[in-house]
Amino acid sequence: MSSYLLALDQGTTSSRAIVFDFQGKVIASAQQEFKQHFPHDGWVEHDPEDIWNTVLATSREAIAKAGIEAADIAGIGITNQRETTLVWDRATGKPVYNAIVWQDRRTSDYCKEQKSKGLEEQVKKKTGLLLDPYFSATKLNWILDNVEGARQRAEQGELAFGTVDTFLIWRLTGGESHVTDATNASRTMLFNIHTQEWDRDLLEAFAVPAAVLPEVKDSSADFGQTQAEFFGAPVRIAGVAGDQQAALVGQACFQPGMAKSTYGTGCFLILNTGDKALSSANRLLTTVGYRLNGKVSYALEGSIFVAGAAVQWLRDGLKLIQHARETEQLAKTIPVNHGVYLVPAFTGLGAPFWDPEARGALFGLTRDTGIAEIVTAGLQSVCFQTKDLLAAMARDGVDIQTLRVDGGMVANDWLIQHLADILRVNVDRPAVIETTALGAAYLAGLHVGVYQSVDDVCGLWQCQQHFSPQLPEEEASALHKGWSNAVKRVMSTA
Ligand code: G3P
Repeated sequence: MSSYLLALDQGTTSSRAIVFDFQGKVIASAQQEFKQHFPHDGWVEHDPEDIWNTVLATSREAIAKAGIEAADIAGIGITNQRETTLVWDRATGKPVYNAIVWQDRRTSDYCKEQKSKGLEEQVKKKTGLLLDPYFSATKLNWILDNVEGARQRAEQGELAFGTVDTFLIWRLTGGESHVTDATNASRTMLFNIHTQEWDRDLLEAFAVPAAVLPEVKDSSADFGQTQAEFFGAPVRIAGVAGDQQAALVGQACFQPGMAKSTYGTGCFLILNTGDKALSSANRLLTTVGYRLNGKVSYALEGSIFVAGAAVQWLRDGLKLIQHARETEQLAKTIPVNHGVYLVPAFTGLGAPFWDPEARGALFGLTRDTGIAEIVTAGLQSVCFQTKDLLAAMARDGVDIQTLRVDGGMVANDWLIQHLADILRVNVDRPAVIETTALGAAYLAGLHVGVYQSVDDVCGLWQCQQHFSPQLPEEEASALHKGWSNAVKRVMSTA
């Protein structure tokens, strides 16, 4: 009898595979980073073969480490970096261009043009998104326009489009399934989140032929079977969600009003709004939280493009540290009000500013500024950005009392305490911080009958540590004021 669930978590900087037991306990995991390509200012690409090879290698490694076989796996859940856009040849499975990553800003002028035609209102109404290069539609349009012959081949039905989930499922099923789930579809800027259908007007506006699109399924559904050659025997793919939505499930935020924030490459704060698609007056996104048994739970989302990526830059770009875990010790050596601010707008600013042309900056440097101040400013930028999201939600009339946090960065106690200090809310860290993968496993488990309903999943959530604000409120607000001044100075309108 199968007793495990396998989660494939394909993120922006690494691919990870985790074998869970049905209690949500990690049995074995494997992870591989892969190369980021930055061909021009503001461009970010991945080699699709790196995505595929790291997913396959890490899944095999996790299965081997767990000492299990394909037959022991009740189902696979896939979760992925969202919006990242791929187009491939249906006959060969070969991509026609690199994957254009969600952070990529190359279509920023095109977005401006479309905005000047008044398209943003329609985009917002139908998709819950803003007209920004972040989402897949304009990246797909760019590939069709810039790869020789692609548009014509797409129109003839020879090419397939997909976000990373779709591409992986295509490969794993040997081209049998061209599918996605409603959460991933909701990030393409082509999907009407109210009717749950691809939207004809938007397809026309972004010049995307319907022939390239995948079928959209629930987040727990039959997505096809893996080819026997990959894991020794076929395994059913039964759960799919974009990584931020999978984390919402992994954090068991199933009640309206519950919120989570995930700290990976970026940071994404998602609030469950139940069957109501709340529209934000403060530039937050309305999105699909999950879709189960045909029923959509909507969410309000604040998206920050750089969180863990700031620490990665301190490590790999500036070489100020050798390992991310050093940041905690460094931050503990100095007071929080050291006066240095790092605005990591490396790929523009996301919510609530949405300024694709803003670029990063360091402020407040003095002769005694050292590595500790710059590194700490990097950690603090993550807290300040989260505060900006929470403030935007508050202006939309949503008051969050407790935030569940997850992702690799939240292992850092200093960071989470500072987060509670700056946000002025309680912050709960769960026992399993790899919540994204866990959510994908739960989604698969829900489909294959391991769990009868989301109540079973709620019963598995455990708080590992609770953090509440300790820094005096005036100090926290003075720090945040300094941050807001720094942000103003990097905005393209400054
Ligand atoms: O929307 C982009 C998001 O899905 C990326 O997630 O985990 O790679 O930061 P992550």
